[in-house]
Amino acid sequence: MRDLHVAHPTLPCSVLVVGSGGREHALVRALLASPAKPRVICAPGNAGIADDAACFPVAADDIAGLVALAQREKIEFVVVGPEVPLSLGLADKLIAAGLPVYGPKADGARLEASKIFTKQILLKHRIPTAAAGFFSEVAPALAYLRTRAIPIVIKADGLAAGKGVVVAQSLAEAEAAVREMLEGGKFGASGKQLLIEDCLFGEETSILVVVSGRDFVILPTSQDHKRIGDGDTGPNTGGMGTYSPAEVVTPALLARIENEIVRPSVNAIAAEGMDYCGTLFIGIMLTPAGPSVIEYNARFGDPETQVVLPRIANDVLALLWAATRRELAGFKLVEKPEHAMCVVIAAKGYPDTPAKGDVITLPPAAALSSSVSILHAGTARNSAGQLVMNGGRVLGVTAIGPTLRAAADDAYAVCDAIACTAKYFRRDIGARQLNRR
Ligand code: AMP
Ligand code: GLY
Repeated sequence: MRDLHVAHPTLPCSVLVVGSGGREHALVRALLASPAKPRVICAPGNAGIADDAACFPVAADDIAGLVALAQREKIEFVVVGPEVPLSLGLADKLIAAGLPVYGPKADGARLEASKIFTKQILLKHRIPTAAAGFFSEVAPALAYLRTRAIPIVIKADGLAAGKGVVVAQSLAEAEAAVREMLEGGKFGASGKQLLIEDCLFGEETSILVVVSGRDFVILPTSQDHKRIGDGDTGPNTGGMGTYSPAEVVTPALLARIENEIVRPSVNAIAAEGMDYCGTLFIGIMLTPAGPSVIEYNARFGDPETQVVLPRIANDVLALLWAATRRELAGFKLVEKPEHAMCVVIAAKGYPDTPAKGDVITLPPAAALSSSVSILHAGTARNSAGQLVMNGGRVLGVTAIGPTLRAAADDAYAVCDAIACTAKYFRRDIGARQLNRR
C-alpha cells in the first residue's frame, strides 16, 4: 500500500461510493481500475457491487449515517451517485466534516430538484431552452395551455424519479396532467408547482460534464432510450439502454454545444453563486434550430455512466479528484475510439409494478469476454444466497467493441444468456445510430 501511495502521492487511498444502481456499479469498477489502487467501499450497494467492493447497509438518504460511515472507515474521498442525497445536503455535511466529496452541495443539486429554478436560470442567462410558464393554480395553467401549440409538455417542479414529465398529445391529456398534479396530488409536494413547456422536436443526447467551479471537462457523448418499449413507445423510464459515442453529435455540433450551452451553463451556475463541484448532466434536444436544453441533472446519468466511463482512457479517480481539488483546469480527457453499449434488463412490469424476487442465473464469469461486463442495479440475495430481482431496473449488460454493431452483438448475446423468467429488455438499443449507417 505504501509504495502505491508514494507512486500516486496526490490521490486518495480510500473512496466511498454512495448509491445502489448500475451507475454506482460502473463508478466502483472505474475507481477500482485506477492505478492508485484505492480501497473502494459502497453504501448501500447491491448484490453485484458486493462482489467487487465492501458494501455497508447505510441508505443513500441517511445523511448522518453516511457521514459517520465515511469517518469510521477513514474514507479520504466520497463520490455521490444519486440526486436525493445531494439535494438533502450530503455534500454540505461531508465538507463541514472535512471530507472531500465529488457531487454538488444542496444549492447546486437544486438544478435537478427544481425544474422551475433551472428554467429561470436558463432564461435569465439566455441559454437555448423551450419557452415555459410556471403555475401553482389550475385556472391560469389551463388558460395558458389554450394559448400554446399541441403537443405540449407538463412537468412537476420537484423530483419524481424521472416520472414527473408528461408530453401531452392533446389538450385533454394536458389538462388532465395539470389537474392530476395540482389537484390530485400526483407526485405529492413535487407536483404542487408545475411548468408548462413548449415541445421540442429532434433527437436527444446526454452531455455529461465534470464541473469544478468555472472549469469543466466534457465527457464522451451518449444517447439514452427513455421509453419502455421498442421503437420508443410506452411510458418513460429511468432509461432502458445507452450507447456512446452518439455520432449524431458531430465534432462541429459538439463545439456548438460547448459554446452555446456548456460554457454558458457553467458560467451561469457560478454567477448565481453556486460553487458547483460534480457532474452536470445536460439533457439536450438536437432541434432543427440548434441544440436546446431539456434539463440539468446534478449527477452522473444512469445508464449513461455505464457507457461513458469505459470509454475514458484517463484514470477516472484522478479526474474526479482533480475536480474536487479545484485542479481541473488543463485536464486533457482522452477518449477511447471504441463504441460502448449498455442494455438494461428490467423486471417485467417496470416502470409501474416491477416483478420482485425472481431468481437470476448469470452466465459463468469465465464464459464472458473481457469486453462485456454485467453491472448490477436492483439485485439482492435471497435467504438461500441466490441472486434475485429486487428493483425495476435489475442489470445493465455493457459491452465495448470496435464498432457499435460489435458492442451490440456482444451485449445482446449476454442478455439472452441470462436466465430469469421475469426479465425484460428492449431489443433496439442503438437502432437509430445502427440504422443511420
Ligand atoms: P426530463 O425529466 O425533464 O428529463 O424529461 C423526461 C423526458 O421527457 C425527456 O427525456 C424528453 O424525452 C421528454 N421531454 C422533456 N421536456 C421536453 C420538451 N420540452 N419537449 C419534448 N420532450 C421533452
Ligand atoms: N438516464 C437518464 C438519467 O439518468 O436521468
